[in-house]
Amino acid sequence: MIQAKPKLVIAIDGPAGAGKSTIASRLAKTLGYVNLESGAMYRALGLKAIESNISLGDSAALLALANRSTIELEPTPAGNRVLLDRRDVSARIREQDVTDAASRVSTHPAVREWMVARQREMGAQGGVIMEGRDIGTVVFPNAEVKIFLDADSSVREGRRVTQANAQDDPARAEKLRADLRERDRRDTTRAADPLKAADDAIHIDSSSLSIEQVIARAEQIVEERIGQHSL
Ligand code: DC
Repeated sequence: MIQAKPKLVIAIDGPAGAGKSTIASRLAKTLGYVNLESGAMYRALGLKAIESNISLGDSAALLALANRSTIELEPTPAGNRVLLDRRDVSARIREQDVTDAASRVSTHPAVREWMVARQREMGAQGGVIMEGRDIGTVVFPNAEVKIFLDADSSVREGRRVTQANAQDDPARAEKLRADLRERDRRDTTRAADPLKAADDAIHIDSSSLSIEQVIARAEQIVEERIGQHSL
């Protein structure tokens, strides 16, 4: 069993569908840490831009919008509850239009700076597992544990189709696969802090691993680090 002694910062980065949320929430439970899903914040801003009719390409307007917003993540046993201006948008932000908007708003450096500042405040006390795309590289470059969780794109696409229960609907399944590919392309090729592993991140490829195997590997990595930090 892991002994949660020092209050570390654990960064988990990786592409959509690699299993970050599942692993982060399980690890958080085991360690008694708080699990913060940074992508939900980009999603909340994407939703607000849609509702406010603000162009997803207008960096200045998006920053002004962010400055008029409160975005809160409330960890619960079932994942993060996401509050946009005190309204619970946890379910709405998972829909495809918001998923797409989140990926678009996240390309703007000004928006990223705003998000990063808030994410640093949230993690300042330690004892957090933050998952996203740039946590180990930008938000917490000094995080004591950095995990880069990846899986082959075909595996990630397959997981997305299963999650959405679209196996028996080829047209919907293909749309989900294409959306994921497009989001991968945007997240990895954007100029501002694209998804990439930190040099000192430990890689886990979940393509042919079960959830339990990935969790066991992640726990082992964390346990080793906690051991080092309690010396
Ligand atoms: O993790 P997610 O799928 O909920 O993230 C939604 C979008 O937000 C994703 O397409 C890229 C962006 N994102 C980001 O740029 N940086 C993060 N730390 C987290 C998410």
